[in-house]
Amino acid sequence: MTNALSPENSGASVEPSATATELVTNRPTAAVPAAPVVRWTEDGQAQSAAWRSENGSPAPAEVTLVDDRLTADAAYRLAAAGTAMLWRGDFHNSRQLLQALGRRVDGERRARCAPTPAAEFLADRRRQAHRAAMLGRLLVRLEPGWTLSSLRAPDVRRACDQAYGAPASTATLVSLRELLGVLGASEWRRKGVDIPALGARIHPHYGVFSPVRGEYVDLVAAAPLPSHRLAFDIGTGTGVLAAVLAQRGVQSIVATDQDPRALACARANLDRLGHGDRVELIRTDLYPPGRAPLVVCNPPWLPAKPQSPLDHAVYDPGSRMLRAFLDRLGKHLTAEGEAWLIISDLAERLGLRPDGYLPTAFEASGLRVIDRLDTRPRHPRAADQDDPLHAARAGEITSLWRLTRN
Ligand SMILES: C[S@@+](CC[C@H](N)C(=O)[O-])C[C@H]1O[C@@H](n2cnc3c(N)ncnc32)[C@H](O)[C@@H]1O
Repeated sequence: MTNALSPENSGASVEPSATATELVTNRPTAAVPAAPVVRWTEDGQAQSAAWRSENGSPAPAEVTLVDDRLTADAAYRLAAAGTAMLWRGDFHNSRQLLQALGRRVDGERRARCAPTPAAEFLADRRRQAHRAAMLGRLLVRLEPGWTLSSLRAPDVRRACDQAYGAPASTATLVSLRELLGVLGASEWRRKGVDIPALGARIHPHYGVFSPVRGEYVDLVAAAPLPSHRLAFDIGTGTGVLAAVLAQRGVQSIVATDQDPRALACARANLDRLGHGDRVELIRTDLYPPGRAPLVVCNPPWLPAKPQSPLDHAVYDPGSRMLRAFLDRLGKHLTAEGEAWLIISDLAERLGLRPDGYLPTAFEASGLRVIDRLDTRPRHPRAADQDDPLHAARAGEITSLWRLTRN
């Protein structure tokens, strides 16, 4: 997560570019662009490794070798100077160093309170980006086969295999921060997230939107079903909403996503829950071909630029996905059909979208609101008074809008 952001509130409707529709039959693999190579000298020997960064950080031009003798203050100074540090010591010490580095970044003098919630949102994202860039300068080397050669290193093979795919045949440099994220994601995937509305767990994969904020899932479980015949789930992520619909007795569901990781994750979850044969997964931009009597979509909620590929499930620059979803909805709903749009009002509360944005957008897309089901977030952040966005988050309402064609 590296770049500064700007809210793009133009509200302009952007027609998405046509992309191929691809039926997902096998486990998809994330597209891996050709990795840049980092070179350095160690003990007089020329060394090289492929660079890997899921958040798109550029490969460092050079690296400085560091080990257990490096103090946190010295690491902070190196990171602040933009120096990439390749860790050659004990793994546990590297984790401690990263934590100490984080505390120093968090302790940096903050700019005064921003004048508006939108400015505060931007400042918060800039702080996050700065933190990620600073911590991202402590690197580790993964050997071919996804092993770590550091002393007391954990076995990271399974986690890297899940997040990155088949092991590289060369050494790879990654930031320790990213590797810890990969290990954490593997643990989440193993444990899963309890979904009370399903009475089951959903197992999110690395980089896939996790349904930890279960309240929106409850809305989909509670809304009156207009039909049991067919539903489209647009932007399926882990497949959680498709699973709820299948459990409610919808006979056939077509679920889409643009992200191959999401589709692989949805396939695994739906198969595990026994709904695999009722849900077709398609890689496409928004809609599958045809019309359905029920179309469900939980789009990214905030109109801001994603800072990394992993952010595409949360940030929707210029509300582009939202507007394209609404603009094209009429061509994919049957005459009596209903769409369920799940979205919170956090963007309006932060001033990233004007009040009344959604009703205006519905009207412009030829849609009528039948009803709206509201809920309040239960996640811990909503009550975190230290969160700079606390005021907006504390009042946030998540809604399921029931829409139909005019
Ligand atoms: C907020 S997540 C919701 C995931 C899941 N439906 C849920 O409710 O937990 C939004 C999802 O939309 C997907 N997405 C974003 N833009 C898309 C597009 N143009 N077409 C299809 N899917 C898209 C993202 O990859 C992500 O999985």
